[in-house]
Amino acid sequence: ADAPMIDFAHLPHPAPVPSATRDQALADPGFGSLFTDHMVTIAFDPEHGWHDAKLCPRAPIPLDPAAAVLHYAQEIFEGMKAYRWEDETVALFRPLENARRLNASARRMAMPELPEELFMESLRLLIETDRDWMPTAEGSSLYLRPFMFATEAFLGVRPAREYLYCLIASPVGSYFKSGVKPVDVWVSRDHTRAAPGGTGAAKTGGNYAASLNPLAVGVENGCQQTVFLDAIEKKWVEELSGMNLFFVFKDGSAITPPLTGTILPGITRDSLIQMLREEGLQVREEPYSIDQWHADAEKGDLVENFACGTAAVVTPIGSVNGPDGKFVIGDGGTGQLTQKLRDQLLGIQMGTAPDPHGWVVKL
Ligand code: COI
Repeated sequence: ADAPMIDFAHLPHPAPVPSATRDQALADPGFGSLFTDHMVTIAFDPEHGWHDAKLCPRAPIPLDPAAAVLHYAQEIFEGMKAYRWEDETVALFRPLENARRLNASARRMAMPELPEELFMESLRLLIETDRDWMPTAEGSSLYLRPFMFATEAFLGVRPAREYLYCLIASPVGSYFKSGVKPVDVWVSRDHTRAAPGGTGAAKTGGNYAASLNPLAVGVENGCQQTVFLDAIEKKWVEELSGMNLFFVFKDGSAITPPLTGTILPGITRDSLIQMLREEGLQVREEPYSIDQWHADAEKGDLVENFACGTAAVVTPIGSVNGPDGKFVIGDGGTGQLTQKLRDQLLGIQMGTAPDPHGWVVKL
């Protein structure tokens, strides 16, 4: 059962961004460089549990230089979006799944769990307060970034005793500069992202840190994302630095790598498995090798390929590149099914398509 609700103190911003400046910024928000006026913070220590919840102006967070997060990286986060509908309804997509995943990550990283109701209340408060920051342009939304980190000043290696949960929001358009055009991916042969028994299934900053050098190698080679292979055989395709992968075949089946603990259990991934099955495709969660990927693409058996995630939604993959050369997926463009799934998912999220699963939660 959740802990008793605690009251959030409301500390409105004394000088929020003027509306003209804000509206100009919202016309073309890009991804993740623009932030709303406020944030929510909630502190944790063993004596008080979760306490001192507040909605306050977004500002730097004072941190002791010995804070455990700065040394041993006890940090977790979530990514989700709030959508503004035509009729001004504000909707979230499967937010309880994010609350649950945050707590699954917390358990792996030896951090305290946040009661789901507190998580939900933090979202409601920030979105309502910064509602004017919700972009209206097609395909844009308010990206929400809940995160938690160890604040205790202590250099011994053990789980910290003190934490801060924080929620910030960023108006966003499409994740990739190219919009929804197919992306080229780079297969990392030298580096892996996560090993069995490690933290690959937790949404923790360290996994993303580990992906940055290989991502930079991909970018140097003209790609936008890097593909990680499994750590043991260096053979099985796992995921991209911040997105899950799907493979669609000529025979009407699809594959996505299974959740064996080294892959981030994407909520978009889970939704697309269900949607593909409803489209009549046979979806298999099974290992798929880099060699098979290459062979299936060359033979024309693999007809579509896409990445998915909250940030990326559904993004087609145009080509696969690596030290051993390059292969193109289909005709290198956006596949029909990929486009259809993207439109359908955005339709559910924007309230323009039926929502048979009840995934949408109105604020
Ligand atoms: C997401 O929100 O989709 C992420 O995984 C984080 C990052 C790629 C922006």
